[in-house]
Amino acid sequence: MRKKVIIGNWKMNKNKEETEYLLNNLAKKTWEKEINVKVCPSYVNLENAQNILKNSSIEVVAQNMHYEKEGAYTGEISYKMLKSININTVIIGHSERRTLFCETDEIIKKKVNIALKNNMNIIFCFGESLEDRKKEKQIDAINKQLDVLMDDVGINKWNQIILAYEPVWAIGTGINATPDQAQQMHKYVRAQITKRYNQELSNSVPILYGGSLKPSNSKEILSKPDIDGGLIGGASLNFDDFFSIIRSVDKK
Ligand code: PGA
Repeated sequence: MRKKVIIGNWKMNKNKEETEYLLNNLAKKTWEKEINVKVCPSYVNLENAQNILKNSSIEVVAQNMHYEKEGAYTGEISYKMLKSININTVIIGHSERRTLFCETDEIIKKKVNIALKNNMNIIFCFGESLEDRKKEKQIDAINKQLDVLMDDVGINKWNQIILAYEPVWAIGTGINATPDQAQQMHKYVRAQITKRYNQELSNSVPILYGGSLKPSNSKEILSKPDIDGGLIGGASLNFDDFFSIIRSVDKK
């Protein structure tokens, strides 16, 4: 049985005080053990977040990292730095990194490799653009992105991977994929994992949905059989909305 995973990606939002407000409120709340909650504050707030959440089950996750261990890369952060403050999970391949920061599949592959090799867990994002969807090329588009993982990553490394299907046209737009559109894609991806690896692995990999998830649509989307949780941007910036999304998968 796969756990539900709810992740708040705060992107380039929230200063120290605002981050503390969200974290302190979250730390006071409880939910059933089967829900795995993670938050992704900005780099400057990671260590403070670790301290605030030290007695909580919520995991602090980095939004990005470089593909080298160290060196002359002004402005970048490496896995070695993250691990030194006990951050063991990182988002890789977010569409904003792909489009706004020109991250190619090649770069993403290097990031995946260094992360997995150094025992970091990854939240690997993939998703088609609006243009792909209009031309009904969404399967080709996501296959190309997923090949970065499936061509290279050995079966024994998949326990470090969470997948997140994030159609680019749904991110930050207020237009979510319909529950059926999302379920269809998740089911397809799971079938691909079975084909490339095996059924047991495919049953165990969490596949999250991201793209305009909010309290009004989370229950329906997140109850679909192949959707194991959500990667939430905008709605995770408001404590009540984020908590209400967590509550929507809580069976207690
Ligand atoms: P959104 O962002 O919830 O604001 O659409 C999702 C994401 O980028 O992970």
